[in-house]
Amino acid sequence: MANSLVAGKIILVTGAARSLGAQIAATCRDEGATAIATDITEVSEKRVVPHDVTSPADWSRVVADVLAAHGRIDGLVNNAAIMYSARPFLEETPEEFARLVQVNLMGVWLGMQEVGRAMSQSGGGSIVNIASTAGMVAHPGLASYGTSKWAVRGLSKYGASELGPSGIRVNSVHPGGMMGTTMFPGTDNQAVYETVREGLPLRRVTDAADAANAVVWLLSDLSRQVTGRELVIDAGATLGA
Ligand SMILES: NC(=O)c1ccc[n+]([C@@H]2O[C@H](COP(=O)([O-])OP(=O)(O)OC[C@H]3O[C@@H](n4cnc5c(N)ncnc54)[C@H](O)[C@@H]3O)[C@@H](O)[C@H]2O)c1
Repeated sequence: MANSLVAGKIILVTGAARSLGAQIAATCRDEGATAIATDITEVSEKRVVPHDVTSPADWSRVVADVLAAHGRIDGLVNNAAIMYSARPFLEETPEEFARLVQVNLMGVWLGMQEVGRAMSQSGGGSIVNIASTAGMVAHPGLASYGTSKWAVRGLSKYGASELGPSGIRVNSVHPGGMMGTTMFPGTDNQAVYETVREGLPLRRVTDAADAANAVVWLLSDLSRQVTGRELVIDAGATLGA
């Protein structure tokens, strides 16, 4: 895309040091926005701001810094998340479950509050929460991760309902396995890639740019009447579920 879809907007993207988050930040910039990329992982690239999404103090600092520099925040993409390797539910541990909930759900909740307060002061904005097809159906071996994504889906609807009167839209994006990302094994395993591809109605594996394009549309004013909805980007993978 290169259409100035989000020209002039100030957009914060979490977990943006690599993979989907980096793609979203790059697409926002391509479309005319100022994108502030944050991540817990230290990277030499100067444009990534240190930010642990589980830390309320980090959220306060990051949002205050963006407001000081730009005066407002028009868009927030809660992309940061973790995932453990697939395993049977009975083998999952309480520690893993707690950490998944802390990063994947609490991190989103904190961002919606902190940025929601700023957006409500400046007349509104668009929040996009990155969920997963694991938050639309039950994927084998992903009970805790999937549960955190179902919760993000629910939180997005509550956010849309609560924040709508302040002009803030909240939607969730649900990608299937995406080429070019760390979490998708098909990125560097040709056999997995082919198995996934053959199972898709469109016979084309999703890539990070497909999901990023959908996110940018939700950040743009083209989607101004859309809130509290799920946008599934999976080449039809979950149609039959
Ligand atoms: N990759 C896929 O195929 C796929 C499919 C469906 C949904 N998703 C979702 O898309 C998003 C991005 O996935 P990805 O594959 O690019 O993941 P990734 O692991 O490559 O990137 C996630 C980023 O989040 C950061 N992060 C982790 N914990 C953090 C914390 N506490 N605070 C701030 N940053 C933190 C990591 O450092 C990393 O840079 C996630 O929400 C994921 O659940 C991914």
